[in-house]
Amino acid sequence: VRAGALAEARAPQAAGGVLLVTDENVAPLLPAALAALPRHVLRPGEEHKTWEELGRLLLALDRAGLDRDGEVVAVGGGVVTDVAGLAAALHRRGLAWSAWPTSVVGQVDAALGGKTAVDLGGGKNTVGAFHFPRAVVVDPRALATLPLRHVRAGFAEMLKSALLRGDEALAAAERLTPEDLLRATPAGVAAIEACARHKAELVDEDPFDTGARRALNLGHTFGHAFEAAALPALLHGEAVGAGLLCAARLAARLRPGATADLEPRLAAVLKRWSLPVRLDLTSASVLQQMRRDKKRAGASLRFVLPLQPAQVEIADVADEADVRAALAAVLPGL
Ligand SMILES: NC(=O)c1ccc[n+]([C@@H]2O[C@H](COP(=O)([O-])OP(=O)(O)OC[C@H]3O[C@@H](n4cnc5c(N)ncnc54)[C@H](O)[C@@H]3O)[C@@H](O)[C@H]2O)c1
Ligand SMILES: [Zn+2]
Repeated sequence: VRAGALAEARAPQAAGGVLLVTDENVAPLLPAALAALPRHVLRPGEEHKTWEELGRLLLALDRAGLDRDGEVVAVGGGVVTDVAGLAAALHRRGLAWSAWPTSVVGQVDAALGGKTAVDLGGGKNTVGAFHFPRAVVVDPRALATLPLRHVRAGFAEMLKSALLRGDEALAAAERLTPEDLLRATPAGVAAIEACARHKAELVDEDPFDTGARRALNLGHTFGHAFEAAALPALLHGEAVGAGLLCAARLAARLRPGATADLEPRLAAVLKRWSLPVRLDLTSASVLQQMRRDKKRAGASLRFVLPLQPAQVEIADVADEADVRAALAAVLPGL
């Protein structure tokens, strides 16, 4: 994590060739050293995180003649790093890749941890692989050009991270403003770095997501269902923000020891960041998406329950009444 790292980037060298992968919005912003590399430009946005777009990239890697000693260099948001990472996992059964995340979601979450995927058949991240990047370079100054809506959505993931780290981190997140991220102020850089390091630590401890890393799914069983049900109207981070409110309500309902003031505390922060706290979705459409969640455990759904800042519990919830009650935190008419 270093402010200015992208502008000062040197072109990576790899014996088997290099292909830079970016999207149409980030391509014009590339610093000279990276702009000089051979590149493949993806169509931007979640609606293009598809099998078809992955296929075009795989053909480009083949045409570029990258062999197993080559490297894929992904520069962009979470869609770019997810698709480029998956292509790197598949091309010639896997070659090295590195990530230069340029969105908040990318810098604190998506580019870290080796999970790569595309969306197929209406679900989110339904086809993917674990393929760990050789390096992840986070330059908070890259956020200067990120559209405000994406800055805000990324903050929801930072709020999740802060809640997992504890009361002090949560209080720091509550003080943060969009300007801190857009201008890479010391507070903004520190917040990005804290989130990125926290994720990296959990991934080191549990690379394949069978233990400690699962805490990072806080807000995501709900969030992924909202995102898929609303696609493409809701951004990932926006959906996760709303998911945090439902997770807090579910924890308060199921666990007597859970802090009751967590949900209003989180809602206040989300509102201050103009993030959605009410969603225009039906519970039927959301529940349908939840049933196909790949994290479900048999008949029940798996949730991360926030009991207190820094204290979560993974719980399998079998009773749909509990899930409905939690959804009422953000859905109308429940
Ligand atoms: N692999 C993981 O562990 C993981 C974790 C979290 C999220 N994700 C995935 O990440 C995706 C969301 O990531 P995202 O929010 O970065 O989406 P994104 O890649 O679509 O980027 C958001 C938008 O901002 C643009 N953009 C990116 N950086 C920019 C910059 N510096 N200046 C101007 N425009 C810029 C992009 O072109 C895009 O239009 C979702 O698909 C989600 O599933 C993956
Ligand atoms: Zn997420």
